[in-house]
Amino acid sequence: MLNQEVYDKVVAKFAEKFGGKPEVVSYAPGRIEVLGNHTDYNEGFVFSAAIDKGTFFAVSPSGDDKVTLVALDMDETYETTLAAVAKVESGATWANYPLGTFNWLMGGAPAKAGKGFKAVFGGNIPLGAGLSSSAALEMATAIARQKVYGSTFGKTELAKIGQKAEHTFAGCPCGLLDQASSMYGQPGALVKSDFRTNEFESVPMGDGVAFMMVKSNAKHALVDGAYASRRQACEDAAKYFAGVLRKKVTHLRDVTMAEWVLYRGGLSETTAKRAVHPIGEDERVLQGAALLEKGDLKGFGALMYDSHESSRNWFENSCEELDTIVDAAKAIPEVLGARLSGGGFGGSCCLLVDPAAADKISAAITKEYKAKYGDEPVCSLIKPSEGAHLV
Ligand code: GLA
Repeated sequence: MLNQEVYDKVVAKFAEKFGGKPEVVSYAPGRIEVLGNHTDYNEGFVFSAAIDKGTFFAVSPSGDDKVTLVALDMDETYETTLAAVAKVESGATWANYPLGTFNWLMGGAPAKAGKGFKAVFGGNIPLGAGLSSSAALEMATAIARQKVYGSTFGKTELAKIGQKAEHTFAGCPCGLLDQASSMYGQPGALVKSDFRTNEFESVPMGDGVAFMMVKSNAKHALVDGAYASRRQACEDAAKYFAGVLRKKVTHLRDVTMAEWVLYRGGLSETTAKRAVHPIGEDERVLQGAALLEKGDLKGFGALMYDSHESSRNWFENSCEELDTIVDAAKAIPEVLGARLSGGGFGGSCCLLVDPAAADKISAAITKEYKAKYGDEPVCSLIKPSEGAHLV
């Protein structure tokens, strides 16, 4: 089993805390975003993949109204009761991910008396790296709790429940990308998502290439406003285009690059810059799909570099550290493409690489990064892997 040693630790902790075996154990992976940045809430397209690191959630009914959550990696316990399930404002805010998911799985109403639970969760997704450890926890919670209580939500519905937990309990107005990637990942394949129709297609990556994640040491925090302000700018721009274009526009998905060029003059400089990023990203994902079909990985990689330029110049969700990594990657022939992955403002870059040259690539990037910042980035090869499932 993938990540067996993490599973063993979670189950051992469960036995230590509660005695016996958990009734249900689930697993959900983190994700990398490969192409298509900040397009999900604009109803656009994304290429992503579930990664080979994830979170296990082990749970049994408590038989009463008590809810106990144990975070193995932080060695912390949070206790509440069914009637008191609510956003945790301070202290154990990590509990917001499983609690919020539980809350919306129950339709936002307190669960029936006697339906409490005790759970231990733990995983190996580095925190703050932009690999969606929070979505993994939500999805692991969702499928385990659904099994215990016999609800029958489909994958997309469970993803939306996790997203609602982010919005209302964790305070990040994210799109559906992270949760959907964790649910729909397939080994050796990318997930191509259409966030208008919520169709999720599996696209094989082909042999001879791999992804390398390079984690900067720059802070990545999406809940302190920068993410929300980008989203707001996109929504403002969509409203503007709905007014000036003679067609139906509900999201930036409906606006072409040619239309942006012609009509951008009516937007503020900043809003125009924000809007062009998802518009360009949608085009790049569709081009990328055509290139992958032809097996043109070099062409696909070039689009990843373009995506990063667009983040750097227009959306301004990159930072010096991420730019340093991408610039260093460009000078290495065995790297086909590189870009920031996920929300931005820190976190990680995703590189498309020749896996045979992995050591050479990490050494070269580490050297450049260290010369500038004194510390080392973390480089790891990622295997696109299976999505969330019961163990
Ligand atoms: C974060 C969000 C996602 C998505 C990406 C950017 O990961 O949680 O919904 O918007 O940023 O593409």
